[in-house]
Amino acid sequence: MTLTRYPVLLAVPGLCLTLACTSPDPAVGDAADAAPAPDAATAPDPTQSPPSGAAALATWLAAGHYLAWHCEPAGHPARSPSAHGRNRICNNAALHAATGARFPPGAASVKELLDADDTIVGYAVARKDADGTDGGNWYWFERVGTTTYADGPGTSGGARTICVDCHSHATRDFVFTVVP
Ligand code: HEC
Repeated sequence: MTLTRYPVLLAVPGLCLTLACTSPDPAVGDAADAAPAPDAATAPDPTQSPPSGAAALATWLAAGHYLAWHCEPAGHPARSPSAHGRNRICNNAALHAATGARFPPGAASVKELLDADDTIVGYAVARKDADGTDGGNWYWFERVGTTTYADGPGTSGGARTICVDCHSHATRDFVFTVVP
């Protein structure tokens, strides 16, 4: 009996080894299949949501996701009372689709800052992070060349004193230009 059972015991680990080598781990497959449903409902779409921070934004802007947003067809001179100079503005889907006086959290704009030849020299970004009527509910970023004018929520710093101060004069929730 011992002699006949022994080869079977040897064969079982061999079989497991073969399966492990040729098929994906079922537990990993289940987790990957189950995860996207709840995540997709809550996590922001990275192509629609600019990240915070100069380094992450530089990578995200270079990837060009915002170019698929609703963008003005061409650069134009600054509209009053802009401090930005020649520019071109893109709105994400949440900002573009909004109809009320206030934009929903997740609404965002990217503004290309242009020289006279329409070469991009910098970017300005605004992203609404929470419901409310204050500029502190938005994240503000602007960089031209190597100078960063704002990078943070509109509660303090340049975001507050430069961006929010002027954008508070916009008639609709801190946004001056909605791309038609
Ligand atoms: C003196 C006023 C003024 C200041 C200061 C200012 N902006 Fe603007 N901004 C404007 C105006 C006006 C527009 C619309 C310009 C246009 O359409 O040409 C605009 C447009 C934008 C847009 C496109 C969405 C929109 O509201 O039209 C973004 C993004 C933006 N600004 C970000 C910033 C950031 C970030 C700062 C701070 C570093 C800043 N702005 C400072 C006046 C200002």
